[in-house]
Amino acid sequence: MSEKQKVSADQPPQVDADRKSGGGKCMMSRRDFLLTSGMTVATVMVVINAGTSQAHEIPGVVSSYPRKWIAKLSDLVVDEPVDFLYPDEGAYADSVIVKLGVRAGSGIGPTEDVVAFNNTCTHQGGPLSGTYKGDTKSLGACPLHLSTYDLTRHGILISGQAYQSLPQVLLELEGDDIYAVGLFGLIFGRYDNLQG
Ligand code: FES
Repeated sequence: MSEKQKVSADQPPQVDADRKSGGGKCMMSRRDFLLTSGMTVATVMVVINAGTSQAHEIPGVVSSYPRKWIAKLSDLVVDEPVDFLYPDEGAYADSVIVKLGVRAGSGIGPTEDVVAFNNTCTHQGGPLSGTYKGDTKSLGACPLHLSTYDLTRHGILISGQAYQSLPQVLLELEGDDIYAVGLFGLIFGRYDNLQG
């Protein structure tokens, strides 16, 4: 498998001459759009019918999650959640970041207590915004059928009708800046987290 093209969100977008001069129509290319949006895309060659006389390569596209700035670590207050959208602005992208004040699975920060989750119940899509409980470090109860999720243990179900954990937003800390960089678990209502 050979990688044909790989672009990185760390690279600055290239600006067309027309855009530099301010003249004419929008010349943003697909590559520029992907760089600007923080998306990483690679075109790879996939071998079909490997090991047979019909073996041949076809191009395939692999995309990864955008890296999105979410908040300053120093601005977060224990048990005061902050809403944001991730990985895009499509359906069910509502998410929440919260400093729990206790160590949590995949938590970041000096005490590993900052976590983020998708804010939609995995049962039938009930909205969980505004349901955070500081005393139990949980999200819920869902207003539809009362599912409640433990934010210290990767969003595992505590009680209720759901049978899947809440998707956890993977975070990175760079200095005081917190970035969302991926998701663990499938967002309700999507067949692919990146296809909102
Ligand atoms: S939609 Fe949340 S428990 Fe059913």
